[in-house]
Amino acid sequence: MPATNVLITGASGGIGYELAKLFARDHHNLVLVARSGDKLAQIAGELRTQNITVRTVALDLTQPPAPKFLFDQLQSEDIAIGILINNAGFGAFGEFAQMSNEEIFGQIQLNIIALTELTRLFLPPMLARRSGRLMNVASTAGFQAGPLMAVYYATKAYVISFSEAIANEVRNSGVTVTCFCPGATHTGFAKRAGNDKSRLFKQLGAMNVDKVALDGYRAVIEGRGLAISGVHNWIVVQSTRFAPRKLVTAISRWISEPT
Ligand SMILES: NC(=O)c1ccc[n+]([C@@H]2O[C@H](COP(=O)([O-])OP(=O)(O)OC[C@H]3O[C@@H](n4cnc5c(N)ncnc54)[C@H](OP(=O)(O)O)[C@@H]3O)[C@@H](O)[C@H]2O)c1
Repeated sequence: MPATNVLITGASGGIGYELAKLFARDHHNLVLVARSGDKLAQIAGELRTQNITVRTVALDLTQPPAPKFLFDQLQSEDIAIGILINNAGFGAFGEFAQMSNEEIFGQIQLNIIALTELTRLFLPPMLARRSGRLMNVASTAGFQAGPLMAVYYATKAYVISFSEAIANEVRNSGVTVTCFCPGATHTGFAKRAGNDKSRLFKQLGAMNVDKVALDGYRAVIEGRGLAISGVHNWIVVQSTRFAPRKLVTAISRWISEPT
């Protein structure tokens, strides 16, 4: 794919950072977004050695004006985005009734609303150019209900449904929409979510972030619709389609519980 401008949200660590390295390796210019401006500046310095331009924008995407601010900023600088990676997201562990409003609505604001608004803003210019790639990072969590992380699992179900639907709407337009679903992955995610002591992360094993990012990178470049990282995750997702929903929900709770 010819070099273009790639916008990655949540690029200060984890999967987003690894994706940034892969795009830089292939000479794409980058716009990196996250809250931690200092981390972004450090990453930009590191990636500029690949002879690319790297623009960083320190932004809290849970703040409602943030997506439009970002879009307007890039327009004013004449930076047309050829690839958008909606990767920023977080989860929070705990029973819904005990969870703070900040955690509940923060997840919805970042994982659903910011992702939807960025798609709304950046997709039409891609369609007008008849060229572009969009990748929304969902999760294998989106394929079933998730007791103890009810809101997070539900936000990712939204991302899968939304992404598959718009992928269909834009077929034959020259633009592709990919929904990328990692399973448990070694990043800062589990610690922030408070589920790093869960059976999922402690016993069942998480994937290495570089491998997961490479799967996502290939999926978006190939313009695949839905991509699940890891064969074992693919098998688990398929098995949930045929098992009784109550059983799937009970197993989902069991893997989220601390060991
Ligand atoms: N790790 C897993 O097990 C796993 C599994 C499936 C799916 N995923 C999904 O993969 C994506 C990336 O997660 P990760 O594992 O790489 O997590 P991570 O290591 O915690 O990285 C999350 C990134 O999002 C940024 N971010 C968080 N809140 C933000 C906000 N309010 N505004 C802007 N940026 C924000 C963080 O930067 P700042 O803190 O600097 O803002 C960081 O760059 C998420 O959508 C997650 O749901 C992760």
